Amino acid sequence: MTHSPLLRSDETLFRDPEVFEFTFLPEQIHYRDAQVRELAFLLQPALRGGSAGSAVIRGPPGTGKTTTVHRIFAEVTETTKKLVPVYVNCRHDRTALAVFGCIFEQAFGYAPPSRHLDGIKRGIAARLRDEDAALVVCLDDANELIPAGTYNTLLYQILRLYERWDVRKPGVFAVASDLGLNLYAEADESVRSVFHPTEVNFPPYTKAEIRGILADRIRQGLYPGVVSKSLLDRIAGIAAGEQDIRVGIDLVRLTVLRAEKDGRRRVAPADVTAAAQAVRSPALRARVAGLSEGERALLYRIAELSVVGADMIGGAVFEEVQDYLPVGRTTYHEHLNGLANAGIVDLVPGAGRGREVRLRYDPGEVLAVCKPPDRR
Ligand SMILES: Nc1ncnc2c1ncn2[C@@H]1O[C@H](COP(=O)(O)OP(=O)(O)OP(=O)(O)O)[C@@H](O)[C@H]1O
Ligand SMILES: [Mg+2]
Repeated sequence: MTHSPLLRSDETLFRDPEVFEFTFLPEQIHYRDAQVRELAFLLQPALRGGSAGSAVIRGPPGTGKTTTVHRIFAEVTETTKKLVPVYVNCRHDRTALAVFGCIFEQAFGYAPPSRHLDGIKRGIAARLRDEDAALVVCLDDANELIPAGTYNTLLYQILRLYERWDVRKPGVFAVASDLGLNLYAEADESVRSVFHPTEVNFPPYTKAEIRGILADRIRQGLYPGVVSKSLLDRIAGIAAGEQDIRVGIDLVRLTVLRAEKDGRRRVAPADVTAAAQAVRSPALRARVAGLSEGERALLYRIAELSVVGADMIGGAVFEEVQDYLPVGRTTYHEHLNGLANAGIVDLVPGAGRGREVRLRYDPGEVLAVCKPPDRR
């Protein structure tokens, strides 16, 4: 590249745009050594002629569950034939026919010739026996199988494959991002007698970890010097506030596209501000959708007060909202805590005068997203 500050229209800042796609599988998985070790440990017996163990993998969205499993499975495929790893996306495949079709396809490399479940199972078993291989199946987003009514039958059919077909007992990695759901407890007794999963947890990333992951993506996907350290820091802060690494990856991509469109070689602070609005609004909307009517009315009033630069100490806000929201102090505090729990405001302890109410979002954005409260 030349060093002119302006970008020619045929030049790009992206060394590899794929790096910012959601389907991109990073070579390096950061901050997940413990989880990788636990999962690899479960697979080890299968490499020595035994069976793979099972796991329940839990963690909030964007904590690297899918990526980690993909990485491990890719390495297994590269290094051994003794273990056949199969990845099933349960958002797409929920019936026994679809899931065993997936298993068949990944074991053979082509789609099953018949749509007959028993025939497909027999084919899979024959393949495993011929190769003297063990099977491990990852049911990603397995929570989707519960409303579909196929969770228990599928687990049962996979885990008990060995009884009828004389193969080694398969391992199952069941993945869920819904922390309120216990995939082991959802299994019924007949399944639990053969399903003894190890729990592997994926905690949310800290801001420093998000920064590290983003820095790595930037190194791989962009030419040097496009995103400064301080802007990376700001992007990591926004993604950490949203508790979503995907927001960070998307922000990097969008800010670079903006710079490129403007013919600049470097991302500017204004690019981050503009791109942040585009990615944050959907998140804000989702959070507001979960509020009660009272919480939403209070949020609207708080946004109005912040626009005019009013005193945002909790007590003062309480006085201010009285005209619009005639609620008692207890209800007011409940609503306020509701907003804090939803991740829309921060309640910052102040010196003596009570907590300061600080919006995490631009007040104008909040007003646009909240409907005006009815003024009783
Ligand atoms: N440790 C990591 N190192 C590098 N990239 C990561 C890491 N963790 C997550 N990512 C990236 O963040 C994005 C989200 O990760 P992933 O899809 O694995 O999350 P998940 O836990 O499966 O989320 P969900 O529950 O929503 O399916 C992906 O683009 C992935 O490449
Ligand atoms: Mg996932």
